[in-house]
Amino acid sequence: MSQAQAKTAVITGAAGGIGKELARRMAQRGVNLVLVDLNEDALKSVVRELNLEDASSLIVTADVSKEEDVQNYVNKAVEKFGTIDYFANNAGIEGPMGLIEEQSVKALDLVYNVNVRGVYLGLQYVIPVMKKQKSGAILNTSSLAGLMGAPGMSPYIMSKHAVVGLTRVAANEVAPHGIRVNAVLPGTINTRMMRQIEANSGSADDFKVANEAATPLGRYGEPQEVAAVMNFLLSDEASFVTASLYTVDGGMMG
Ligand code: NAI
Repeated sequence: MSQAQAKTAVITGAAGGIGKELARRMAQRGVNLVLVDLNEDALKSVVRELNLEDASSLIVTADVSKEEDVQNYVNKAVEKFGTIDYFANNAGIEGPMGLIEEQSVKALDLVYNVNVRGVYLGLQYVIPVMKKQKSGAILNTSSLAGLMGAPGMSPYIMSKHAVVGLTRVAANEVAPHGIRVNAVLPGTINTRMMRQIEANSGSADDFKVANEAATPLGRYGEPQEVAAVMNFLLSDEASFVTASLYTVDGGMMG
């Protein structure tokens, strides 16, 4: 497929567990990739591991909570590839564990800056590009924590509920322009983030056992299993799907 015909995707958090697997899937479909992350070394490793060292990919180091960085990754994507057909608004952080009265406002701001402000800024800069094209698909990464409560992670859980609300608003706003917006809501997935949440819980083993027991399929999910659903939503196969919340959670919500 020539580069002119190929579609282009921007993936934030592309150096992380889920983002990297989405990049792998989309590269297999011949999609040009703009890989965005705070961690430049990890981005370079992803490019090497996925054999993306050709003209079909671009890495942009960015902090998604900073407006100038978001403007920059969007501008670079358009400069290099001309369009943004798919946008995985995926970067996120877990924040600390603790009851509400033990959490600091600083931690709340930190988590909100990345998980809410970062996702919001991404929409603010990508939507005008897609409106001009009169097409596009956006996928925000929320979490099962965007639908459920649990003790100990109020900043994260609140932030992921916000992503659900934002997805619904955005989907309604941009549908007349031929743009779809959905959210993926992973359950417990084997990535760095989950290792950190386990460690923060005080007893990684107990945390894992309890979560596996709460999951009808009886195990954590793999990032590839989330990426498969994301890849579908960021494709023309999902042409009638918008404002939807896709849980990928082994049945935990059910
Ligand atoms: P991860 O920690 O492996 O990947 C997250 C990536 O985001 C990292 O590469 C990190 O460098 C990047 N990042 C963090 N802050 C950033 C910033 N300010 N600017 C740019 N990049 C930044 O975690 P994972 O699991 O791949 O997470 C991806 C998304 O999935 C997150 O939004 C997370 O909240 C969500 N999620 C993950 C679940 C899990 O069980 N692993 C469950 C539900 C949702």
